[in-house]
Amino acid sequence: MRTTLFVILTSLLLAACESAEEKEQRAMMEEFTEAGHKITKISFASLSGNLKAAMQTGGPENAIKFCNINAMPLTDSLSKAFNVKIKRTSLQLRNPQNKADSLEAYMIDLYGQIQKMQKPMVGKALLTRENEIRYFAPILIKPQCLLCHGTVGAEVKEETYALIKEHYPDDSATGYQEGQLRGIWSINFGPADKVKKARQTTE
Ligand code: HEC
Repeated sequence: MRTTLFVILTSLLLAACESAEEKEQRAMMEEFTEAGHKITKISFASLSGNLKAAMQTGGPENAIKFCNINAMPLTDSLSKAFNVKIKRTSLQLRNPQNKADSLEAYMIDLYGQIQKMQKPMVGKALLTRENEIRYFAPILIKPQCLLCHGTVGAEVKEETYALIKEHYPDDSATGYQEGQLRGIWSINFGPADKVKKARQTTE
């Protein structure tokens, strides 16, 4: 009787502990999901604001040169500012340096399936098997993207594409239509223990 009670008690206590830990983890992931939303919003605004300005001063040719020189340094400097790693990636790449790692490729595939099922595609932070906190969010094609990612000979002018090919000989990032999944934002917040410690010391 006593042992049974003990077993029940300990299992109850363990369950309580587990759920408290799980609860904390869920709260933490919600926090990082919020942080991810903010960082991607700022990064998108910064990239597209600069792109728009480059387009207005010199058309798509100038904008391509701008992207070629500035897209990665811009995300790199935002990464530094937020103390995270920010990346844009896709399964149809323009710049091979943006290549997806295995988890990113998995997430792009997953978002593709969610889109096919016509379910909402939302950004989300998760804890990986390697104990890293990572955030992913879908990137969809908007009308203004078609100038450089639409169909060559239609939305993408031949001369624009010639310039793209000059900078990106292996480009495969055309042929998109509005609303299609272009890729994802990927943010790496780093190892969970380190991040947790940093949070505790700033609290
Ligand atoms: C003026 C042409 C232009 C426009 C307009 C444009 N892009 Fe791009 N895009 C580029 C170039 C050039 C690169 C390669 C940048 C680099 O070197 O990192 C790129 C790269 C990307 C990447 C990174 C993955 C890869 O293939 O290298 C994503 C994602 C992306 N674009 C999405 C978009 C979206 C979404 C829009 C619209 C909101 C958009 N682009 C509008 C030219 C353009």
